Amino acid sequence: MSSTTAKSRKIIITQALPYANASLHLGHILEAVQSDIWSRFQNNSGNECLFFCADDTHGTPVMLKAKEMGISPEKLIKDIQKDHEETYKLYDINFTNYHSTHSKENKKYSELIYSKAKDNGFITRNTINQLFDESEAMFLSDRFIKGTCPKCGAEDQHGDNCSVCGATYDISEIKDPISVISNTKPINKESEHLFFDLPKKIDALKEFLANGDLQQPITNKLNEWLNDDLQQWDISRDAPYFGFEIPGEENKYFYVWLDAPIGYIASIDNWATKNKLDMSTLWSENSDYEIYHFIGKDIAYFHGLFWPALLSAANFKIPNGIYVHGFLTINGEKMSKSKGTGIMAKEFAEICDPETLRYYFAAKLNDKVEDIDLNFEDYVQRINSDLVGKYLNIASRCSSFIAKNDNKLSERYDLNLIQKISSQHDVIIEHFESRNFSKAVRLIMDLADITNKYINDNTPWKKDKDEAAYIATTALNAFNILTIYLSPIIPKITQEAFKFLNQTNQSFNDVEKKLEKDINKYKPLLKRLDPIIIPEEKNMTEENNYINIDQFAEIDLRVARIINASLVEGAEKLLQLKLDVGEIGERNVFAGIKTAYNPDELIDKMVVLVSNLAPRQMKFGLSEGMVLASSDNKGIYLISPDSGAVPGLRVK
Ligand code: 2FM
Ligand code: ZN
Repeated sequence: MSSTTAKSRKIIITQALPYANASLHLGHILEAVQSDIWSRFQNNSGNECLFFCADDTHGTPVMLKAKEMGISPEKLIKDIQKDHEETYKLYDINFTNYHSTHSKENKKYSELIYSKAKDNGFITRNTINQLFDESEAMFLSDRFIKGTCPKCGAEDQHGDNCSVCGATYDISEIKDPISVISNTKPINKESEHLFFDLPKKIDALKEFLANGDLQQPITNKLNEWLNDDLQQWDISRDAPYFGFEIPGEENKYFYVWLDAPIGYIASIDNWATKNKLDMSTLWSENSDYEIYHFIGKDIAYFHGLFWPALLSAANFKIPNGIYVHGFLTINGEKMSKSKGTGIMAKEFAEICDPETLRYYFAAKLNDKVEDIDLNFEDYVQRINSDLVGKYLNIASRCSSFIAKNDNKLSERYDLNLIQKISSQHDVIIEHFESRNFSKAVRLIMDLADITNKYINDNTPWKKDKDEAAYIATTALNAFNILTIYLSPIIPKITQEAFKFLNQTNQSFNDVEKKLEKDINKYKPLLKRLDPIIIPEEKNMTEENNYINIDQFAEIDLRVARIINASLVEGAEKLLQLKLDVGEIGERNVFAGIKTAYNPDELIDKMVVLVSNLAPRQMKFGLSEGMVLASSDNKGIYLISPDSGAVPGLRVK
């Protein structure tokens, strides 16, 4: 083994910055666990590894979500960041620093990188034609447009691809486009955009692909894109946009994907300032650090082409490598609520000890870009058989023989077994280093099997106190080494195991050290898992196509009569309605129906009210519910009951 290595490498790693518009799901945890295990392994084996992350806060989805919730984007991203940090903590993700792309550091570096790229001649301008939502006064990106597929004629297709025939097309080809935001027909409008001249960096990119630490299929794919038709990259967005304004421009903002990866640098800078460190030693052209990004396969284009090209254009250090993983599937399926596999990370942590998920992911992870399947049956079986049945079993079996020996370890141990376990140090290190955690886990469990067999073959229960203590001491020394090997994967359990062994700060360099101190009483460190059942209410609400009857029954729909309708000063679309809701009383509601109805024609009209919708404070007053209406690009149509229905009747 390569014994006492000095702090030989300095490494910075990042994981992809999660969007600040939703809670984390188990796919996010897969990436965090992969990065965290690698980082802990580096630090445990004599290197220095710093691990940075942040919330990715800018862009239209965050802006619209905040609007829908009636809060500011700043409030939304603050709440979500708190939720994200809490969730990562549950899974013991040990970030060196966690920051936000909506920060002064990110503004500084976004402006700096942009202005350097501009000074170096990499920023161009061009006028483009885009769909524009007149009622919302905003340009629409592809995802906010739906329409009819130009290839097969399927209606209601979102964005630039068809879910029916699978075609992808330019959004300008979609027929009868509709804005998803306002349900109105968008117009074509011109706007000047700023572009990053990606093709001009082709040589730097070729060099990056030739020399960078990338997986072969990723290099191949990136080369394919590179040799294809490299386009100028549109880096500006028009107001309204939640992001950083572009210096020297009017009402133009950096596209979220421009400032997102710069958020890596911003998080480092924020940490450097807090720790009074010189940023130029961390991420600069002459940095001593190797830099690696852990990402999912869907964002390889951004990290493999745009990002290194942008850094190079601004004279910044290019990462040494990119480590790409596949997607997470659950029970063989894409995550989805209707199949009971759409569970959020925070909720899963209430069902299963997060350490066990770390172990399961490690047991499946390798250096490939393949998808990883989380199969609940396999999960329970593996945790019970590996962690409880093999690894921890060694400690629980042996502790009683030591207890009978006044908690004293024997002075001798069987070197034959210990050498079998410690001699695998270099192989295990190599598996961790190459991110083949599944191979490391398999080997560690083989060593646990060997140790259990040693106990079985030597039958300490049939031996006298001294002999039994000798066998148990040998097995516990093996257990100590296995604990060192497992420490990057299950940090909490192994920390408890070290406490039991009366050890502190064990590193990969300590595998040849014999246990010398008296050990503590063994307390079970993990319970066997029961079959995993995801309770209905814990299933995530996104991607959900169905509600059940109970959920529907929660909506209190009532027949109501419009007693009064009036214009609202300063509101373009709203009418103020006063409603008679029978036994419920009277309600004041602001409805976005002004473009379709005159107030006068509404008096005495019967409508349907969602009566238990949380009241919403609007700038014109309190809205106490919502009247039901449908709409299309031709108009708005209030829903009315047949004649005979009286105010207050329940609709069900
Ligand atoms: O795909 C995503 O979830 C992005 N929020 C990742 C950004 S990574 C980096 F570039 F900031
Ligand atoms: Zn189609």
